[in-house]
Amino acid sequence: MSYQTVHVPLGDRAYDVRIGEGLVAEAGAHIAPLLGKKKKVFVLTDETVAGLHLEALRAGLASAGIDMVALALPAGESTKGWPQFTRAVEWLLAEKCERRDIVVAFGGGVIGDLAGFAASVLRRGVRFVQIPTTLLAQVDSSVGGKTGINAPQGKNLIGAFHQPSLVLADIAILGTLTERDFLAGYGEVQKYGLLGDEGFFEWLEANGPKLAAGDLGLRAEAVRHSVQMKADIVVRDETEQGDRALLNLGHTFCHALEAATGYSDRLLHGEGVAIGCALAFELSARLGLCSQEAPSRVREHLKAMGMKCDLKDIPGDLPSAEALVDLMAQDKKVLDGQLRFILARGIGSAFVTADVPREAVLAVLRDGL
Ligand code: GLY
Repeated sequence: MSYQTVHVPLGDRAYDVRIGEGLVAEAGAHIAPLLGKKKKVFVLTDETVAGLHLEALRAGLASAGIDMVALALPAGESTKGWPQFTRAVEWLLAEKCERRDIVVAFGGGVIGDLAGFAASVLRRGVRFVQIPTTLLAQVDSSVGGKTGINAPQGKNLIGAFHQPSLVLADIAILGTLTERDFLAGYGEVQKYGLLGDEGFFEWLEANGPKLAAGDLGLRAEAVRHSVQMKADIVVRDETEQGDRALLNLGHTFCHALEAATGYSDRLLHGEGVAIGCALAFELSARLGLCSQEAPSRVREHLKAMGMKCDLKDIPGDLPSAEALVDLMAQDKKVLDGQLRFILARGIGSAFVTADVPREAVLAVLRDGL
C-alpha cells in the first residue's frame, strides 16, 4: 500500500485522510481496523458512480473479508433533499445498520454530504467513511465534517457537523471524471492558494495545466496540499466561529450565481467558486485592499486552465446586479443581517469582513454583467 496521509487531529474524533492511487481496490484493508466482529459496511452511492466503480469497491472490501450492501441514489444535486435523505435513512434501518456499524459515502459532494448527515442522525450517530470520487469532494467536502442537505430556502441549510472516521482519496478514480467536472473541482484547489498560500498558487500556475492533463503525481500533490490546508483550518475552527469561513472565499458570489442559474448545468459549483474568487479579488482591489495585479493574475490562471473566470462566461442571461445581491442575503454567512465577505490583501492573504459597502459589490457585478 503506497499512499500519503494527512492527519486531522480533532481529539477523540481525529482521523486520517489517505491519498493515493488504487485506494478503492485496497479499501477493505483500510476499513477493517474500524470494524468489530460484523464484517459488513453500508454503502451509499449514486447511480453514475455505482455503474463505474461499485464492483471495484465490492472487490476491494471482499479482499479483506468485508461484505457490503449498497444503495445507489440518482446522481445530481436534486438528490440532496428530504425525499432521498429519508430513503437513505430508512434503507439503512431496513438493512439493520446498527450503532457500531460503518456507513460508507462513495461518490461526490452530494453523496458525501447526504450520507454523512444520514450517519449523524441514524441511531443518534453512527460512524462513516468517506471515499470521495470527485476532485471537489477529495479536496473539500469529504474533509471537515460538514454534512447536510438542501432546503427550498437555500443550499446546505439543514445539516450537522459530523466528522468521518477515515477518508480514502483514490487519485486514480479521478481519471473517469469529465474534463468539465475535473476543472470544476480545480476551482476549489486554486482557492486554497488564493486564501492562504501564495507559494501553492505559484506551484499551481506552473503545474496546473499538467495536472489537468492527467499527471497522477501532480494530482496527488495538489490534493494532499489542499487537504492539509483544509485540515489545519478545521482544527483551528471546527464549527466555523472564525477562520473556517476563509474556506468560503468566492462562495458568497458563487451561491448567488448558482441560485440565479437554478443550480443547473449552466454553472457547476466549482465553476462558480472560480468566478467568485475572481470577483472577490476584483472587489478587494477596488476597495484598495490589494493591487490591481492580483485579480488580473487570478483571471489569467483560470484562463490558462481553460476555466470560466467572468460573469460573461456563464451561458444564458443573468439577473441584474441588484437581484444578485439580494440572492446573497440568503447566504449562511449572513450574521445579524450583515453580509460577510472573504476579501484579500493579496494572493494568499484572505480575511473575513462584514465591512463591505453594498454599492461596491453592485459596481463589481454591474461591470461584469
Ligand atoms: N466547504 C467549506 C467548509 O468545509 O468549511
